[in-house]
Amino acid sequence: MCGIVGYNGYDQAAPILLDGLEKLEYRGYDSSGLAVRNGKNEIEIVKAKGRLRILSEKTDGGNALAGSCGIGHTRWATHGEPSENNAHPHISDDKNVTGVHNGIIENYQELKEKLLRHNYRFYSDTDTEVAIKLIDYYMKKYSEGPVDSIARAMTRIRGSYALVVMFRDYPDEIFCARKDSPLIIGTKEGETFAASDVPAILKYTRTVYYIGNQQIARLGKGTAEFFDIDREPVEIEPKEVKWDAEAAEKGGFEHFMIKEIHEQPKAVRDTINSIVKGNSIEFGETGISDEIIQGIGRIIIVACGSAYHVGMAAQYVFEDLAKIPVRVELASEFRYRDPLLLKDDLVIVISQSGETADSLAALRLAKEEGIRTLGIINVVGSSIAREAEHVFYTLAGPEIAVATTKAYSAQLAAVYALAIQFAKVRGTIDQQKYEELLAELGTLPGKMEKILEDKERIQWFAAKYSNAKDMFFIGRGIDYAISMEGSLKMKEISYVHSEAYAAGELKHGTISLVENGTLVVGVCTQNRLFEKTRSNMVEVKSRGAYLMGLTSYGNYSIEDTADFTVYIPKTDQHFTTSLAIIPLQLLGYYLSVARGLNVDKPRNLAKSVTVE
Ligand code: F6R
Repeated sequence: MCGIVGYNGYDQAAPILLDGLEKLEYRGYDSSGLAVRNGKNEIEIVKAKGRLRILSEKTDGGNALAGSCGIGHTRWATHGEPSENNAHPHISDDKNVTGVHNGIIENYQELKEKLLRHNYRFYSDTDTEVAIKLIDYYMKKYSEGPVDSIARAMTRIRGSYALVVMFRDYPDEIFCARKDSPLIIGTKEGETFAASDVPAILKYTRTVYYIGNQQIARLGKGTAEFFDIDREPVEIEPKEVKWDAEAAEKGGFEHFMIKEIHEQPKAVRDTINSIVKGNSIEFGETGISDEIIQGIGRIIIVACGSAYHVGMAAQYVFEDLAKIPVRVELASEFRYRDPLLLKDDLVIVISQSGETADSLAALRLAKEEGIRTLGIINVVGSSIAREAEHVFYTLAGPEIAVATTKAYSAQLAAVYALAIQFAKVRGTIDQQKYEELLAELGTLPGKMEKILEDKERIQWFAAKYSNAKDMFFIGRGIDYAISMEGSLKMKEISYVHSEAYAAGELKHGTISLVENGTLVVGVCTQNRLFEKTRSNMVEVKSRGAYLMGLTSYGNYSIEDTADFTVYIPKTDQHFTTSLAIIPLQLLGYYLSVARGLNVDKPRNLAKSVTVE
């Protein structure tokens, strides 16, 4: 959950490192630090508690640290409180090894005790300091070079790590290693970069190496060599990153989140266009053939957070269109509950980052059981994308705001396409219905644009209710799935206590929380369930709730019940999530803005949850 950057070239390293860290601040932001090798071949370290801005001020935008080789880190604390002392980079006792780390070293206590017995001393509470000193220990014990010492440490370390390390006696090189935590290497003429994620280096290069699991890299100025854990050289082909550098900038918007909300029509359009060709769907590189689709007996969707909510919506769509039983599971539960998997199951893992630790572990569990796996992933080359048997890439581009919006929408488009194709191949819909659904799918981006044109109404409503303390989102069926995501958006960025409830379940306990003025959002996009949910809205209204209704144009009778109504364009009932979510994202966003909160980097959260 931390962000790492490394630079080895001929320009001043510190400003480049700070710039990269700024792009990665979404990964963690409770402290940060830089280490740069100066002209006297000494490694200078500066750290700061709090936001990156403080580190930048402390180093005069990096200008106070001279040198063209360095590493940087932005932290989301796991071991040890956020403090300057615990901030990275960490350094060995005699300054031989300096490094930054992302991940969790599970056996750090045992390793620390070993090092203490060998007279190492510890100044921080971090597992990272242990890793750095372990490398130093092996270097001295065997009198070997960096690659050997790192490899020896890797065989002892249990857990996950992306490590970027500098050695006092190897002035023109940086070394990296990774296992289960993201790390990429970028090169251009005379310069080499290491980073946790592509946006950090996109401004400088598009040539990227995805360093494999349990591999080591030696980075010179413009060169990268790779080794496996047995220290044998490995070849990695560089890839050309297609993301546009501007996609990782705010482009005139006040926040990344509102920019990304506006990019949703494009994200959905691009994702659909990648597989819909004329009147049919072609999964192409995903490798999902008709034969495979016919052989699937059950689908298990595994994911976390918003991606799990995509799974919740997908469940209704798959079951209704393709008549395949679907289970949706939280990855953190699935991985530890010894799930009963059947040989004709398809496990679908949905993840924007492709690095979420629980989702990755769930994928591995399914693979170990010999179950077919499909990843719906946004980040090319990420761990889940590399390990899943089939991959369906969503084309949302880089998502920077911690709260997901456009990746969520692109994931929905992907699951709709899968459900439609499954339905056709399995004969549960005819050709005419197939074409109708595809045509309707193609109209979603335009309808999303229409909703965005009317955003000022939501802005006004959010400003009026910016002091809300509790909120409930209620709905049935797909509307319940929409409610879950709407509620998550509200709590994560606006810090309003909010809950999503299946509307029919309210009266089994939760309705006792409704009092005068409690804000309740009733989601009613499903015609079949409209009256049922409306009657639940009446129940909360008669107990004093203030009601916002969210429904499709035409369902005007909602105004008899709701105090404020938002309409979305009509669409096929299976696809309403894609439209109804936009007003709810806007509500969370504008409420957060009205409360003066940090929309893009909400407290305690990090974008990529690479720890369990
Ligand atoms: C909420 C949010 C998170 C992520 C979750 C999974 O706005 O962004 O709930 O959806 O952490 O992340 P990925 O999709 O990267 O696996």
